[in-house]
Amino acid sequence: MGRDNVVLEAKDLKRHYAIHRGAFRQPAILKALDGATFKLERSKTLAVVGESGCGKSTLARLVTLIEEPTAGELKIQGVDIITAEEQAKRALHKKVQIIFQDPYGSLNPRQKIGMCLEEPLLVNTDMNKEQRAEKARNMLDLVGLRPEHYDRYPHMFSGGQRQRIAVARALMLNPEILVLDEPVSALDVSIQAQILNLLADLQEQFNLAYLFISHDLSVVKHIADDVMVMYLGRPIEFGSRDNIFDTPHHPYTRALLSATPVADPFREKERIMLRGELPSPIAPPPGCTFHPRCPDMTEICKGEAPGITDLDGCEVACYHPKTY
Ligand SMILES: Nc1ncnc2c1ncn2[C@@H]1O[C@H](COP(=O)(O)OP(=O)(O)OP(=O)(O)O)[C@@H](O)[C@H]1O
Ligand SMILES: [Mg+2]
Repeated sequence: MGRDNVVLEAKDLKRHYAIHRGAFRQPAILKALDGATFKLERSKTLAVVGESGCGKSTLARLVTLIEEPTAGELKIQGVDIITAEEQAKRALHKKVQIIFQDPYGSLNPRQKIGMCLEEPLLVNTDMNKEQRAEKARNMLDLVGLRPEHYDRYPHMFSGGQRQRIAVARALMLNPEILVLDEPVSALDVSIQAQILNLLADLQEQFNLAYLFISHDLSVVKHIADDVMVMYLGRPIEFGSRDNIFDTPHHPYTRALLSATPVADPFREKERIMLRGELPSPIAPPPGCTFHPRCPDMTEICKGEAPGITDLDGCEVACYHPKTY
């Protein structure tokens, strides 16, 4: 794949929050995202995994331009979002859309579905009423809903149907990138599969790039091309889906995989228990931030944070990666 296919590029992307601790104390700095570097290509799915609080939704908010990065570089279709002119930025807003875990929260309960779908067109295009309605009806069909749903309200739908509506709304402005933040986590397993299949069909049809956030590794194994594993605001391993699942190098990646029942009868199951709790991101441990919980930790891990090493096509931040 050539560089032209890269639709999203982040370099050392950071988002820090100042946490105020009272009038007489300096605010603490919470490094929610602390140096993410990755690329996402057209028609591909990059899955982002990691424990709660590791910065996945923060990354989603930066990529969808809901928040600005504290530092680093973010390019969408080659356009740098920091230095872009207002007009270029507005155009980029349409190119990246987000879908959340709970579609009910993002649907207006008093708005009929037709209007909900047409609203982005009303705000962002000069399409007339008929054109907007036609596009909305086509979109309903595309996501597997029926024409009569056009006049219904959100509460009249099931969770799976509501997620279809959220997908439909996200596609109304012909985006290039969908950020999916735990899109199927709230759904029954059987409904999850339907939505994942729908997402796969739509990806193929429109060459969409997906940034897919999930804590469910069996879902990730099903849909990802590449996987980025995060720990305390930093990617600690990045590689192709097969690389990550078959030959995970970082002890944290291996621990995550060993804790998840991903069906694989041919693999001898290693069981890695993590010691202790996830540390506070306000006061992360020095050196490799994973070292207090790591089964392979040595003295060197407490010093400098490890750099990124390339191992069989995986990018790994670890002094003692497992080799195969
Ligand atoms: N606006 C904010 N102000 C201060 N801290 C924040 C803010 N948003 C997020 N954080 C903190 O940043 C860290 C990362 O949060 P984030 O929501 O990105 O995690 P996550 O990986 O999406 O977790 P989950 O899997 O639970 O959704 C957390 O410690 C969180 O408390
Ligand atoms: Mg989140």
